[in-house]
Amino acid sequence: MADETNGPNSEQIDYWNGDAGDKWVDAQERLDPVLEGMGLLGMDQGGVNPGERVIDIGCGCGATSLELARRVGPMGSVLGVDISSPMLRRAAERAAAESLGHAVFANADASSYQFEEGAADLVFSRFGVMFFRNSDEAFTNIRRGMRPGGRLCFVCWQPLIKNAWVTLPRDIALRHVPPPEPPNPDDPGPFAFADPAKVEGILGRAGFSDAAMTPYDTTMYHLGSVEEVTHFMIYFGPASRLLEEADNDVKTTVEAEVRAEIAARHDGEGVAFPAAVWVATATT
Ligand SMILES: C[S@@+](CC[C@H](N)C(=O)[O-])C[C@H]1O[C@@H](n2cnc3c(N)ncnc32)[C@H](O)[C@@H]1O
Repeated sequence: MADETNGPNSEQIDYWNGDAGDKWVDAQERLDPVLEGMGLLGMDQGGVNPGERVIDIGCGCGATSLELARRVGPMGSVLGVDISSPMLRRAAERAAAESLGHAVFANADASSYQFEEGAADLVFSRFGVMFFRNSDEAFTNIRRGMRPGGRLCFVCWQPLIKNAWVTLPRDIALRHVPPPEPPNPDDPGPFAFADPAKVEGILGRAGFSDAAMTPYDTTMYHLGSVEEVTHFMIYFGPASRLLEEADNDVKTTVEAEVRAEIAARHDGEGVAFPAAVWVATATT
């Protein structure tokens, strides 16, 4: 990757190349089915046609890049862009295992990467565009890589309060640990694009037309035993940061309380949580 260590997204580069990247790689097989439906909502709404050139921003371990590659077929191409070396390694291994040679990956910050100018028919992302320090600049840069009339389509989270997969462990943890500093709404993070007017403003300033945000209330289904789902909910999602400094007694108490809630919702195979996303669309 070009030297971005002092760039605007250096904190995110550290974060996604540290424990977070390793956690996503370790959890890839468990996470793919949990997130799959939300990515497909975006692909179906954005449309993916055989032969198209597609960019997948923040492609992570590659699940969506592979699906895009299957949809565009060998006459098309997919470029997955991400800043996380461990996640990209997994993505490239999976593309090779499926012989999807027309899916390639770049280890780069999408906000400054020099995309081939005017080339992409479609830019897609599943939860990979909420982490830019300067979103106006990032989307301006991304738009340069798209052909006139090209489509942008990405999936991002609606507000935290509508996403029980976060609020359940978080609210329990907050009974036992001090609340974090209230987040600055302009900071990068999973819920940074929860406000549709904000996103439409960013896309408009970046030169996109017809920006629209379509809401979807959906379900996140976590397959696994009560114990597995409990552990995942506490130590994978945003709630995990709340417990980083907690002592073992507090962790044990939080685990017991979350376990009781998960057990009450478990259907024998897993647990369904309400989840709410936006599918953002725009054209160049
Ligand atoms: C929540 S994960 C989603 C990963 C993947 N899209 C998925 O749905 O499984 C966010 C991804 O965005 C990537 N990311 C964050 N900032 C980025 C940037 N400036 N340029 C490219 N990728 C970025 C992270 O490394 C991470 O892989």
